[in-house]
Amino acid sequence: MAGRREGPLMRIGGQHSRGSRIAIAVAIGVLLGCVFAFLYPDGVIKSSRSFAGSNSARLSQVISSSCASSTERIKTLESQLAILTGKNRELSSQVNDLSMKLQIAGQGNTKALYKAGAFGTVKGFRKNPVVICDESVNPRLAKSLQQVAINNELIVALANSNVQSMLELWFTSIKRVGIKNYLVVALDDNIESFCKERDVPVYRRDPDEGIDSVAKTGGNHQVSGLKFRILREFLQLGYSVLLSDVDIVYIQNPFDHIYRDCDVESMSDGHSNATAYGYNDVFDEPAMGWSRYAHTMRIWVYNSGFFYIRPTVPSIELLDRVADRLSHEPKSWDQAVFNEELFFPSHPGYEGLHASRRTMDIYLFMNSKVLFKTVRKNSSLKKLKPVIVHLNYHPNKFERAKAVVEFYVNGNQKALDGFPDGSE
Ligand SMILES: *[C@@H]1O[C@H](CO)[C@@H](O)[C@H](O)[C@H]1NC(C)=O
Ligand SMILES: *[C@@H]1O[C@H](CO)[C@@H](O)[C@H](O)[C@H]1NC(C)=O
Repeated sequence: MAGRREGPLMRIGGQHSRGSRIAIAVAIGVLLGCVFAFLYPDGVIKSSRSFAGSNSARLSQVISSSCASSTERIKTLESQLAILTGKNRELSSQVNDLSMKLQIAGQGNTKALYKAGAFGTVKGFRKNPVVICDESVNPRLAKSLQQVAINNELIVALANSNVQSMLELWFTSIKRVGIKNYLVVALDDNIESFCKERDVPVYRRDPDEGIDSVAKTGGNHQVSGLKFRILREFLQLGYSVLLSDVDIVYIQNPFDHIYRDCDVESMSDGHSNATAYGYNDVFDEPAMGWSRYAHTMRIWVYNSGFFYIRPTVPSIELLDRVADRLSHEPKSWDQAVFNEELFFPSHPGYEGLHASRRTMDIYLFMNSKVLFKTVRKNSSLKKLKPVIVHLNYHPNKFERAKAVVEFYVNGNQKALDGFPDGSE
């Protein structure tokens, strides 16, 4: 568990030059500064304000001296950062990490914290830091995850008895690829014993846990809400999760093809580069004459049945927002809600989520529309080896999934031919 969260400072410690020892000292200083800035973003002003009372002269004096000291602190941080940058170019990635911590420390702070670099060198930050592991949220799950996860990440699927045969095809493909870090969250006893008998890592939630009554008695959308609540615990325990539906065939190990640079990295429901990655869609309203063309941006939704989510604050906020909406909007569809929360910007009366997002490659993380409508008919695309195929676009999932195994695993070039593009 500790391996992946080894901080930049620990890596600096591995070098032996005198320069690096200075760097360690400076880095510790910067980090302490960051921590302090975190805890007291406005210095001690706030607490001073509360007891300054009506003595406004004294109050402004307190504020100005606090401001001065916090400006000084920021100046010190900046100059320490500058020293670090100059001292050792090898440390540039560590400097980046520290600079990001500085950015976080400055969140909600209106004070300027740093200078923008030269043209073309400036990069906002998308890789949010991971949360501190909190085992108290679920010690039993924490224990299972220590055994199952590799590099603090794992595939997680929820399953009940309705999907047993699909689940079997799912874990058989996972085992065939040699993936070890996966876990089935069993929603009933039958699935739990089914997995145990087949040596499939399984976790059964405690039956008395409040939200489980939802799993048994709730409607479909409420069970979807459950997925987001369960996921939250995994993230709180410090793990990155590749959430997977069970109508998915694994052909390669997805962990070899994930970027890990965003809060959420998801497969797309798109069927082409444009639809999956976004495009300019022009809306035409002839009555407007000169301005008849209005430009819009479109992107096909992310598939909420297969996404990689890092244990960050925006990720957990996303899960909470989706679960909350699903429990209050009985008619909503979890995938639509998931996408709205991810993509809609802040606007009057609404504060948008600020999570970073990455769309997975549509030929590596392939949906069944891409496969059956395009790939199987194109001799060059047919040669590509996907990482997974998700049978999300078709109702006869089991038959098509078996055909996918025949085609990609057993090399039967005709295995996909008998199916229509869509359902009939
Ligand atoms: C789709 O995008 C991929 C990755 O950017 C690129 O390699 C490929 O050429 C694109 N295909 C088409 C048809 O534009
Ligand atoms: C096959 O796919 C490639 C890559 O998207 C594309 O460039 C090519 O035109 C396609 N061929 C046919 C026959 O559609």
